[in-house]
Amino acid sequence: MAEFSGQQVEQLLKAAQQATENAYAPFSKFHVGAAILTQGGEIFTGCNVENSSYGLTNCAERTAIFAAVAAGALSAEHDLVAVAVVNREGAVCSPCGACRQVIFEFGPEAVVIYRAHNGEIAHTKAKDLLPEGFRLR
Ligand code: THU
Repeated sequence: MAEFSGQQVEQLLKAAQQATENAYAPFSKFHVGAAILTQGGEIFTGCNVENSSYGLTNCAERTAIFAAVAAGALSAEHDLVAVAVVNREGAVCSPCGACRQVIFEFGPEAVVIYRAHNGEIAHTKAKDLLPEGFRLR
C-alpha cells in the first residue's frame, strides 16, 4: 500500500474526531483524537489519557500507535502510512516532540495530518516534522 487517497484522509479525520469522545482529559480539558493508517490498510484510533500525576499523560497519537503495535499491525520502519490528529475545539495542534519520535520509529515517510499554525490542515511527512529523528542501528 504505497499511497493513500483523499477519501482515506477524510476517513482518518472522521475516525480521529470520533476518538476525541473517549479522551480522558480532566486536567487540561483539551480532548484529542488520533487515527493512523497502516500499510496493511487498517485504521487504529487513540485519545489522550491524562493522569493525576501529570507527567504520565499519554498523547492521542501515541495511544493509537501503541494500540496498533499491540494488535500486531505495526512492527517495522515503514509500516505507518498516515497519522491524523484533531481536537474537539478544532484548535491548532501539531504532534508534540515525543509523538514525532514515536511516529518516526514506524514511519519516517508517514504523512501527518494536523491543523497547522496558519489555521489550515497540513499534510507533512514525519521526517520533515522531525529532521534527524533518532534511530538505534
Ligand atoms: N496532546 C495530544 O494528545 N496530542 C497532541 O498532539 C498535543 C497534546 C494532549 C496531551 C494533553 O493531554 C493535552 O493534549 C494538553 O497538552
